[in-house]
Amino acid sequence: MSFTAAVVTVSDRSFQGIRPDQGGPVVEALLKEAGFTIVATALLPDDQPQIEQCLRQLCDTTAPQLIVTTGGTGFSPRDVTPEATLAVCQRLTPGIPEAMRYASMQITPRAMLSRAQAGIRGKSLIVNLPGSPKAAQENLQAILPALPHGLEILMGTAGDCGAPASVPSHG
Ligand code: MTE
Repeated sequence: MSFTAAVVTVSDRSFQGIRPDQGGPVVEALLKEAGFTIVATALLPDDQPQIEQCLRQLCDTTAPQLIVTTGGTGFSPRDVTPEATLAVCQRLTPGIPEAMRYASMQITPRAMLSRAQAGIRGKSLIVNLPGSPKAAQENLQAILPALPHGLEILMGTAGDCGAPASVPSHG
């Protein structure tokens, strides 16, 4: 089964054209490789109302099965992607950021500094990733093996939860 996805880059500097968006393209490429069709992309500043508006509009109109944000999950006062995500989600999926941080902690202790959240609005799953291309890739790779099953359950097309899952290796 193939899924639709949107990629939202959140970065003041990329939005202002000071630094090219590197995280977004890396995430897009990984998702495409995993069989997702990218139906929307957006580049936003670190502004909570604008992030919320974009996420609401995506979920309530385009309604891709997956929305991945990259950037704005750290400790800077402008890092508000998690707050925007929490504001728009109707149900949280804490296991997803738990898994990302668990896997990432095998790579760097700085993984604990990501405040990434994930949750569901309507028929869309929203997942926050950090902004650096390396961190975004490592976090996304940690959850990709489980995403199709979760998205099928969300769509109401899931098969058997008891079917064996492929287990990712972390090195
Ligand atoms: N996770 C992985 N897998 N690899 C990384 O290099 N960097 C961390 C963390 N998560 C990192 C990671 C760092 S240094 C920060 S500050 C936080 O993600 C938040 O990043 P963001 O502010 O770009 O969202």
